[in-house]
Amino acid sequence: MHVVGAKNSALKLMAAALLAPGRSVITNVPRITDIAIMAEVLRRLGCAVSFDDDGAEAAGGDGGPPRSCSVSIEVPADPGTEADYDLVRRLRASICVLGPLLARRGYVRVAHPGGDAIGSRGLDMHVAGLARMGAEISGEHGFVIASAPRGLHGATIWLDFPSVGATENLVMAAVLARGVTEIDNAAREPEIVDICTMLTQMGARIDGAGTSMLRIEGVSELRPVRHATVGDRIVAGTWAFAAAMTRGDVTVTGASPAFLEIALDKLVSAGCLVETRADAFRVRLDRRPSAVDVVTLPFPGFATDLLPMAIGLASVSEGASLVTENIFDGRFMFVNEMARLGADIKTDGHHAVVRGRERLSSAPVRATDIRAGAGLVIAGLCADGVTEVSHVHHVDRGYPDFIADLRSLGVEVERATAPEEPAFTL
Ligand code: EPU
Repeated sequence: MHVVGAKNSALKLMAAALLAPGRSVITNVPRITDIAIMAEVLRRLGCAVSFDDDGAEAAGGDGGPPRSCSVSIEVPADPGTEADYDLVRRLRASICVLGPLLARRGYVRVAHPGGDAIGSRGLDMHVAGLARMGAEISGEHGFVIASAPRGLHGATIWLDFPSVGATENLVMAAVLARGVTEIDNAAREPEIVDICTMLTQMGARIDGAGTSMLRIEGVSELRPVRHATVGDRIVAGTWAFAAAMTRGDVTVTGASPAFLEIALDKLVSAGCLVETRADAFRVRLDRRPSAVDVVTLPFPGFATDLLPMAIGLASVSEGASLVTENIFDGRFMFVNEMARLGADIKTDGHHAVVRGRERLSSAPVRATDIRAGAGLVIAGLCADGVTEVSHVHHVDRGYPDFIADLRSLGVEVERATAPEEPAFTL
């Protein structure tokens, strides 16, 4: 199974392109709905955005449609300054244009994204960090409005929590600020390293990417660049858990196992044989998995995006597992759907106790978000009978051609309804 570039990197790399006038090209971009929406965000800011095929590797090895593409973004000298609610509502990640536009234009107005199906999602750290860099920030009619008419300046910023989005916005603002910015307790996710790598190629001066202390020396301008997106560790992890849950054997290429160390170690504790190479790994299991406890934490901890897969594994494991979610307050919302499949799950606050069953039992269930959707489909593979998962448009937002990928692993799966909107438009 070949995994293409990470959604959560590619979206931010596209926003980072705003930092330099001219044509940047980002390759290994997943062909998913969220990328099409981000392209629309950039177009409304005055960019010309086009897509190209990414070559043979993107095809997924099954003759199906390509899973990735190259995105070319032509950024005007003065990009627009406003992102509307109709787009931000569809793609919360569009908030990541806040930092780059403020740095380029000294003014930006972005609709407040609000919460979503995995819980409330604040912006206080984005706002406090930009304010320390000299921005004036206000909220009005559902918009976050930031202005820095005299430009941003370097500052020392302590994040209360290593927020991925806040770290990205602040780095993208700091690269063009006057002087040195230090971000302490910064997020360390591979997607942060990826964006710092692209920014450095554009001419930014950044030290400490991948550590919790980032030091950014502002420069007066950046140049456009060509950059390949880092492989998607969450999609890779999804297949790893699918192999364990179905007592299967899956080799995943395109994403480094170093990004999944704790997750793969959990699978070893569950009884799996795991082999790793630089950019590939193989997971095998030929008996019932053993129960393992899981605690989600910022990277390098166990990723919250793999929580539904961890619950799925626990649901069919021998013994009881304690699963603790520390990032999003609404991540457990999907357990009601897992219960419809016969999973024995009790939640209390941010803890869930899952008592494993030999088999689950098929039922109609509903995807509530990207990862829950993928988790429910995979749980359906462990259920007797035919499981129907509705609202699968959520899965389209994060997994390029999930159905074809499942088929290539030998799963009998049908898409009962056509995608609600074209998953991708070239
Ligand atoms: N938070 C605040 N204030 C802030 C920023 C964050 O309270 O100013 C809180 C959030 O409410 C949340 C926690 O901090 O409870 C973590 O938020 P973070 O900023 O780290 O996450 P994010 O940037 O909103 C990204 C990914 C998520 C992924 C998380 C954690 C993107 C587009 N999204 O979200 O991915 O779960 O980091 O790794 O990069 C997904 O792909 O399905 C997804 C939800």
